[in-house]
Amino acid sequence: VNNQEVLLARRPVGRLAEADLEIVATRLPALRSGEVLVENLWQSVDPSTRLRMNATTPDGYLPPFALGEALVGMAAGRVVESRAEEFREGDAVTHMWGYRRFSVVRPGRAELGGIGELAKVDASDRPLSRYLGVLGSTGLAAWAGLTVVADLKPSDIVWVSAAAGAVGSIAAQLAKARGNVVIGSARSEPKIAYLRDVLCLDGAITYRNGRLADELKRAAPEGIDVYFDNVGGDHLEAAITPLRPHGRVAMCGTVASYSSAGTAPGPANMFQIVSKRLVLRGFRTGDFIDALPEMRAGLGQHLDDGAIECAERSFEGIGSVVHAMNSMLDGHHVGKTLCRLA
Ligand SMILES: NC(=O)c1ccc[n+]([C@@H]2O[C@H](COP(=O)([O-])OP(=O)(O)OC[C@H]3O[C@@H](n4cnc5c(N)ncnc54)[C@H](OP(=O)(O)O)[C@@H]3O)[C@@H](O)[C@H]2O)c1
Repeated sequence: VNNQEVLLARRPVGRLAEADLEIVATRLPALRSGEVLVENLWQSVDPSTRLRMNATTPDGYLPPFALGEALVGMAAGRVVESRAEEFREGDAVTHMWGYRRFSVVRPGRAELGGIGELAKVDASDRPLSRYLGVLGSTGLAAWAGLTVVADLKPSDIVWVSAAAGAVGSIAAQLAKARGNVVIGSARSEPKIAYLRDVLCLDGAITYRNGRLADELKRAAPEGIDVYFDNVGGDHLEAAITPLRPHGRVAMCGTVASYSSAGTAPGPANMFQIVSKRLVLRGFRTGDFIDALPEMRAGLGQHLDDGAIECAERSFEGIGSVVHAMNSMLDGHHVGKTLCRLA
């Protein structure tokens, strides 16, 4: 079988260019004992993949991709052939060896804290793509970030940044479903309308033109208790001032800095973390792999009863990765970003 893989051809400078990635045809090796051949049907497109295209990544994080090597990232597909006991032809699975039409995967390796390990999913009554989004790593980030890391309490006023995106839209709706007052921020007018009219958040604010602090003050005049941070940089600084004593920040990501090499500036108002006894806690979904069944049951129930809607934007084919990544990072669509590979 001939395969196609996405390679990092050169390191992007700023926005991803078509020439930064290359799609190459490769030949699949014969399957060895213990291996599983998966046809990937969906590719998850994640901001962290852009971060790993830089020459260096932050200490403690996954290493940069090597030039000339295939990218990896979460994918969902069907088992085509199995030489491992636990998997059969036709099984719906997720794994982290994506950015290929077909992947040869060896099960039982706790990749990405377990979230990237080859795993069967029940796609009988849910679209398979959901297991890369609301019922996958995206949903787990929202669920664990809010309930465990931020220790959400019923009276908390919550701000979620990048709230029209994959993680942000689930976190914002989850807090809303729990009865919290929720403010979401995003860039464009269509996204603000989405937060206000579709997700029905209590406040929908833009960060354009340096308006973040004023817009936050208007949306939450008494302050906030929880900030779910997907952006970092100026957004984190804007959260520290309105955070009330003992406020919590779930630090999920710093997408504002992923497309630029070097270090990003930190908040100028750090002493307020001391004076207000704030807790800022970073986390990664793999830390909460044990909560995956609970998250799937909880968010699955919210999907069924209509409390949560999960938008997906899919791009066609393995050749659409650059377009998909740019559309996501430029903020051109809402919800989870995917490429349909089949
Ligand atoms: N900790 C974990 O284990 C974990 C797991 C999954 C994801 N994450 C993190 O969660 C965050 C969201 O990821 P996602 O997959 O849900 O992506 P996403 O929100 O669907 O897409 C990223 C969004 O970030 C916003 N953005 C881009 N550049 C920005 C900037 N300079 N300033 C402000 N906003 C900017 C854009 O929305 P606008 O149109 O609103 O600008 C864009 O749509 C990322 O930081 C990601 O790394 C962490």
